[in-house]
Amino acid sequence: MPYRLTVIGTGYLGITHAACMADLGYEVLGLDIDADKVRCLNNGELPIHEPGLEPVLRRGLDSGRLRFTTSYEEAGAFGDVHFVCVGTPQKKGEYAADVSYIDAAIDSLAPHLDRASLVVGKSTVPVGTASRLADRLAALAPAGEQAELAWNPEFLREGFAVQDTLHPDRIVLGVRSERAEKVLREVYEPLGDVPMVVTDFPTAELVKTAANSFLATKISFINAMAEVCEAAHADVQQLSLALSYDDRIGGRYLNPGLGFGGGCLPKDIRAFMARAGELGADQALTFLREVDAINMRRRARMVDLARELAGGSFHGCTVGVLGAAFKPNSDDIRDSPALDVAVTIGRQGGRVTIYDPIALDNVRKAHPQLAYGESALDAVRGAHVVLLLTEWQEFLDLDPEALGEVVATRKIVDGRNALDAEAWRSAGWHYRALGRP
Ligand code: UDX
Repeated sequence: MPYRLTVIGTGYLGITHAACMADLGYEVLGLDIDADKVRCLNNGELPIHEPGLEPVLRRGLDSGRLRFTTSYEEAGAFGDVHFVCVGTPQKKGEYAADVSYIDAAIDSLAPHLDRASLVVGKSTVPVGTASRLADRLAALAPAGEQAELAWNPEFLREGFAVQDTLHPDRIVLGVRSERAEKVLREVYEPLGDVPMVVTDFPTAELVKTAANSFLATKISFINAMAEVCEAAHADVQQLSLALSYDDRIGGRYLNPGLGFGGGCLPKDIRAFMARAGELGADQALTFLREVDAINMRRRARMVDLARELAGGSFHGCTVGVLGAAFKPNSDDIRDSPALDVAVTIGRQGGRVTIYDPIALDNVRKAHPQLAYGESALDAVRGAHVVLLLTEWQEFLDLDPEALGEVVATRKIVDGRNALDAEAWRSAGWHYRALGRP
């Protein structure tokens, strides 16, 4: 392999990128400033839940091609191409993205770049960041202009991170030189024939925020239809199905329910609005404010529906909550609609017991005041209302009869339109869902 790679930041994106690149044959050094995380990773332990990633990580470590460090000096000496994968969370109390981690990564790495090297940003950033970082890099690196920046946004989904990294829909390269393009084309050659868009920095940065805004808009569109369906006694599930047969619309990201959460879509659309405002283009994105509002209204509607089933108040009511992660196959609870609903019901006086197959450890750390079940049955024992908030397969396979044996009353709200309504109704459950009669 022509290049040695470093991957800076070992979150969902960085660990997956590092492990997959090692699997493709590269020598890879992962870097994180968190020494505990680095120790874990060097022992083959994943600090996150991501299906299929652990064997890839272990293969990399066993082959000797992959290891992790906390030292920028080591990273600078080791790598020819440095991928920056640190987080850009939402700033506290503001819509804007916090890019301080990415600034810090460049500031720490640059002084160790004393030969021709390529620094490749993968994090999601406000448009204009790459251009600023390129200047900063050239100013701080002993190699000067020979330390070049490129922008290469990442589109992986949690839960499918390995698959999405090894088989991406497209590769977007924001570059300022033929050399940068050549290096990145070579780096990604082992992925085979993937559509590639080579463009400038701002376009590359915008592709990512535009893609996430489109997905969020699609979800909020169908959830807005769910609101109208509720008012008109129509069925959004059937509406969505009928729309999906139109190739121009397509069925993906058209599942109505509790809406989107996680570490990307919510904060990305907010950061995009904030950045557009700075650029004087805020009018272009006012619709995203509505997308966000529709999304948040779904959570409020879920709480209202649960309260209605509880008889008008949560006081004295036991609520069994199935799901805490922002989506199935993930332990991520960042901006999780499920957790938001559970916490709100708790605040309104409900006795909430939560179960999630994987995310419970994270919930315990963030919300020690909540009660937990050891299993789905355990969480709904004695419940007056059951809420399905994350559509884990394990919940879809639940037997309504068995669950009915342990609850106080057979009432369920399906927050993800994921259960077989007829099966639950015929087992004597009062079944309600968002956007359906
Ligand atoms: C998203 C983008 O898909 C990915 O390309 C980008 O790199 C990061 O952000 P991710 O946050 O992992 O990925 O989750 P995704 O699978 O896209 O789901 C986002 C949220 O939308 C989840 O809360 C999910 O439950 C919700 N969703 C998704 C719906 O409510 N309805 C749908 O039809 C699809």
